[in-house]
Amino acid sequence: MLVHLNGQLVPHDRAAVSVFDRGFIFGDGLYEGLRAFTDTRTGRMRVIGLEAHARRLRRGLIEARIEWDASRLGPLTAELLEASGLKDAFVYWQITRGTPDLSRGPARSRVPGAGERPTVFGYASAMAPLSLASPEPGVKRASLQPDLRWMRGTLKSTSLLGNVLAAMGAADHQADEAILFRETPGGVLVTEGTYTNVVIVNQSGAVVTPALTDAPLLSGVTREILLAHEPTIREGRVTPDDLRIASEVLLVGTTTMVSSVTHLDGVPVGDASPGPHARRLAARLAAIIAAGDDERLPG
Ligand SMILES: Cc1ncc(COP(=O)(O)O)c(C=O)c1O
Repeated sequence: MLVHLNGQLVPHDRAAVSVFDRGFIFGDGLYEGLRAFTDTRTGRMRVIGLEAHARRLRRGLIEARIEWDASRLGPLTAELLEASGLKDAFVYWQITRGTPDLSRGPARSRVPGAGERPTVFGYASAMAPLSLASPEPGVKRASLQPDLRWMRGTLKSTSLLGNVLAAMGAADHQADEAILFRETPGGVLVTEGTYTNVVIVNQSGAVVTPALTDAPLLSGVTREILLAHEPTIREGRVTPDDLRIASEVLLVGTTTMVSSVTHLDGVPVGDASPGPHARRLAARLAAIIAAGDDERLPG
């Protein structure tokens, strides 16, 4: 497999990064996960919500004080996809703060030096073809797990130990994904999954996704696309109890698209199969992407 490393395409088994890279030592970096598919209108590959991914990365880099031009995300992805020969792909990018100048000081200084240059790494891997004509929601089992992560949930940090531990906790309960909850000034609230955002259909039939203003969570691009184009979804407070009595629980994300949670901690949700809102939103997301409206989002 060819991967991108610092401006070059190289075979993955010849790509080398310093063991003192701050991404490796501190998890000092950001990442993005994109989905590319072959657009039948043009016959060319296209990344879903590319501008939103670039915008999120740009904002994250500014917040993390890593200097890298996020407008390169699109062209570099196109180059990687072309080299991969894939028709449907997941594309991963990671930008770390880079390797300190070892002659000038200890490699473990938390404060970065002046001379570091970001390490840029990307790869593309095959995905099943995106079905835009007849989209079916995926199905997942979920488990409620405490959100033990830091407070900067809008940053797509490569430090994923909190997500990893929660996902392992969920796997211990035979679940595919953890749905996280944490104490907030407004009480105990559901935040998100370890790689997905959460949407519920509550007892009154309202379709609600946890608000970014109530708790630290990622502004997922899939969530952004749905919120921008699907007025039935609103942001609000979701408690673990809301989740337990919801008529539908959905997980949304780049690889997950719209999936339906059939079991929460082993208990069936609804009739344990995708409900009408899961079907409607899976079809809606596919229609938005098919029309190219995933690129028309408010900045
Ligand atoms: C913690 C977390 N929440 C939500 C998402 C979904 O975001 P997106 O729709 O941009 O894939 C992800 C994606 O990896 C994630 O890691």
